[in-house]
Amino acid sequence: MSPLTPEEVRAQIPIMQKYIYLDNAATTPVPLPVFEAVKEYIYEYPANVERGAYSIAAIASEKVDEARENIANLLLNCNPSEFIFTRNETQGGNFVAHTLLQPLLNRAEGNFSEVEPIVKWEPHDEIITTVIEHHSNMLPWMRLARQVKADYKVIMPEKDGILRPKDFTPVISEKTKLVAFQHASNVLGTVHPVKEIIRQIREINPHTLIFIDGSQAPGHIRVDVKALDCDFYAFSGHKGPLSMPGTGGLYIRKELISQLDPEEIGGGIIADVTKFDYKLRSDSYGKRWDAGTPNIVGYLALGRAAVYVAKEIGLKNIEEQELKLMKLLLEEIQDIKNLEFYGPRTLENRGGVLTFNIKGWTSHELSLALDDNWSILTRGGHHCAIPAMRWLGIHDEYGGNTRVSFHYYNLESDIEKLIEALKVLSE
Ligand code: ALA
Repeated sequence: MSPLTPEEVRAQIPIMQKYIYLDNAATTPVPLPVFEAVKEYIYEYPANVERGAYSIAAIASEKVDEARENIANLLLNCNPSEFIFTRNETQGGNFVAHTLLQPLLNRAEGNFSEVEPIVKWEPHDEIITTVIEHHSNMLPWMRLARQVKADYKVIMPEKDGILRPKDFTPVISEKTKLVAFQHASNVLGTVHPVKEIIRQIREINPHTLIFIDGSQAPGHIRVDVKALDCDFYAFSGHKGPLSMPGTGGLYIRKELISQLDPEEIGGGIIADVTKFDYKLRSDSYGKRWDAGTPNIVGYLALGRAAVYVAKEIGLKNIEEQELKLMKLLLEEIQDIKNLEFYGPRTLENRGGVLTFNIKGWTSHELSLALDDNWSILTRGGHHCAIPAMRWLGIHDEYGGNTRVSFHYYNLESDIEKLIEALKVLSE
């Protein structure tokens, strides 16, 4: 089967008939085939999972297992047992922060004695992140640092917004216990050399844990968590993967996930329960994070979306389409007077996100004008990354910047209309 074309995908997204949708970094519209997977569940096998013996309950459980497998294999290249369903990237980060705070409970002997935690925190251990992270990849670590009395350090990269190994090397030491940074930036449009950065970090301190915020990566670019060699990788389903809001995932390396205690416990995650004790299931570690009836429709939507982006479109095709559009935009936008854009000047380390300001407009006003007059939907503001906006020096004057962010179904005609509109607004 030949891959779907951008025009074919666009035809499967109703809102694209009415608007020029350029806010894919915030959330993406759901294509009809993904919605169909939800409909199929509601109509054909609306049963609970991992519980019932009757036929449609078995089908529902099998479909959710298949979804987990497709997401793990196609979006992350990990084992399904290393994959946890989450609400979004934010929940993934919070799960990890929580887990690094808790002592582990040893149930092997049938009691709840405490054992060594995953991280044995000492005062002035270090947690490291960067200034260009969005809030969800800062707040959980800031709070964790306070709770464990660690020093919280923030890397300041070069102003082009590309994170480089050399930014990390001076700050990593034997006291570094956790490094958290993004795969791609929602503010500067950069895609970072994560593999090289991680290699460099591990050379200096092989024991530090590494968390990657993949909010802007899976579904836009190919991700291989094994090749990256990270410990944790969190993403949202409603951005690149084209799933519904309220869906997402977290990869945790096998050696860690097998030892971690889930934040929530309850039905569905156990192998056995006695009056005073319980034993967590071991058939699939990721399922330990599914206490209670899970978000079945969300899981199925994300599973269907993984197949849609990775197999029916192809992640390489998505990367190429977004870069083709970015090349055109970069060529055209340089000539617009009174307009300043952020991030690299060329396609080097770039994905499908570009942010800018026009003199005389706040970022919100500019975004509203694009919608009011041309039905072009963009995001204006701080993009949940206020420290990054202050670092760029545009927080007070512009309230941040205006952002366009692409997906496969955006076309060159969208860029041409955007350029026309920006030329009028910058007069
Ligand atoms: N969802 C936020 C954005 O729009 C972080 O970039």
